[in-house]
Amino acid sequence: MAQTFLHTLFDPGARALQAAAGSRASYARMEAGAGPVDRLTDRELDFISARDSFYMASVSEDGWPYVQHRGGPAGFLRHVTGNRIGFADYRGNRQYLSTAHVAADDRVALFLMDYPNRRRLKMIGHARASEDPADIAALMPPDYAAEPERAFLIDVIGFDWNCPQHITPRFTGVEVRRASQPLIDEIAALRARITQLEGQES
Ligand SMILES: Cc1cc2nc3c(=O)[nH]c(=O)nc-3n(C[C@H](O)[C@H](O)[C@H](O)COP(=O)(O)O)c2cc1C
Repeated sequence: MAQTFLHTLFDPGARALQAAAGSRASYARMEAGAGPVDRLTDRELDFISARDSFYMASVSEDGWPYVQHRGGPAGFLRHVTGNRIGFADYRGNRQYLSTAHVAADDRVALFLMDYPNRRRLKMIGHARASEDPADIAALMPPDYAAEPERAFLIDVIGFDWNCPQHITPRFTGVEVRRASQPLIDEIAALRARITQLEGQES
């Protein structure tokens, strides 16, 4: 579960604040269970493979946090093997911030949102950019209109599920169309019936 995630991110300041707030004892028990990594399970992998976007934070060479949105067809963030996940990096604004950052410091944080179901998953790990054509081909979604420049491979060391608090459900155009299609069909059927009845009256 989240033991390694928490153990990695808790610093003395956080532990002191937890002690003052009365939450330290239970978190200390969780930290005691930390191993080398939080092992990804089917639950996390299913969630990851359903996402069509996520946010990835990296660290600049002088320590600034930087976060970038990544998007693609659902499943573009893929399980590679074990605790390794990856995605194809499409040509964009050619600033190459994430690529440069992970070359200097490979630590990244990923934030994955499922707005309709009000779920979110946080992950931390070590990332590297690969220009190996085999890595890029393995991660590039088929028939997607983007030009891949490299692959990002991320070895997840920890993850934590967030609670659903304060998440406003949001829906994609596809989800809205799917939910409204039965209503559209029913309206069409009713209109056809009205037209038929009007034809019989005249
Ligand atoms: C023509 C074009 C312009 C873009 N402009 C921006 C931009 O102004 N700001 C931004 O955050 N992303 C922009 N993007 C998306 C980024 O280029 C893309 O997310 C890229 O992966 C960012 O990588 P980096 O954060 O590692 O530099 C643009 C993409 C394209 C194709």
